[in-house]
Amino acid sequence: MADDSDEDNPLPRWLEGDSLAPPCQAGYDVVQALLEFAGVTAKDIVYDLGCGDGRFCTEAAEKFGARSCGIEIEEDLVQSFRAAVEAKGLQQRVRVVHGDLLEQDLSDATIIVMYLLPEALALLEPKLIRELSRGCVVVCNTWGLKSLVPVRQAAVGPFSQTNLLMYTRDSLPP
Ligand SMILES: C[S@@+](CC[C@H](N)C(=O)[O-])C[C@H]1O[C@@H](n2cnc3c(N)ncnc32)[C@H](O)[C@@H]1O
Repeated sequence: MADDSDEDNPLPRWLEGDSLAPPCQAGYDVVQALLEFAGVTAKDIVYDLGCGDGRFCTEAAEKFGARSCGIEIEEDLVQSFRAAVEAKGLQQRVRVVHGDLLEQDLSDATIIVMYLLPEALALLEPKLIRELSRGCVVVCNTWGLKSLVPVRQAAVGPFSQTNLLMYTRDSLPP
């Protein structure tokens, strides 16, 4: 398992462009806990919207046998993600997308993971409602979807400080 040293997890910094959230990463203990909370299996296609260095995607593939897709807008993070996918030999299971998460097709996702600011989640809500397939599970780290009621919640990570909120496609408006 990778560690969470400062080198591995540099301080967040805001960059230019269309960024909807700062590039800070969940620790690997939270990654593991969230993927378990989401109930990821080898049948799943896990999307991380704003995936940073892609750790949710590589862990979902390596530890749970899932396929995954990470979307990230910042070039340097995409490069780290690509390098990790290649180093771990996960090219057949993990898709790396360099782009704006608001412009990607999410219709084949079975699980969606997000660690985004409330403003970004508000922009995403109509897209999720439009595009998600039946049975799709959405898990938000810390901030949830404003107009929707989570079907499950958990507090994970060191001192249980990280709140996870789960929504299902079936609980979203038709
Ligand atoms: C708080 S970080 C979460 C990283 C990772 N998902 C995690 O939980 O460890 C949010 C990420 O979203 C990315 N991001 C922000 N706006 C984006 C956009 N419009 N399209 C794609 N990625 C974006 C940021 O660059 C950053 O890496």
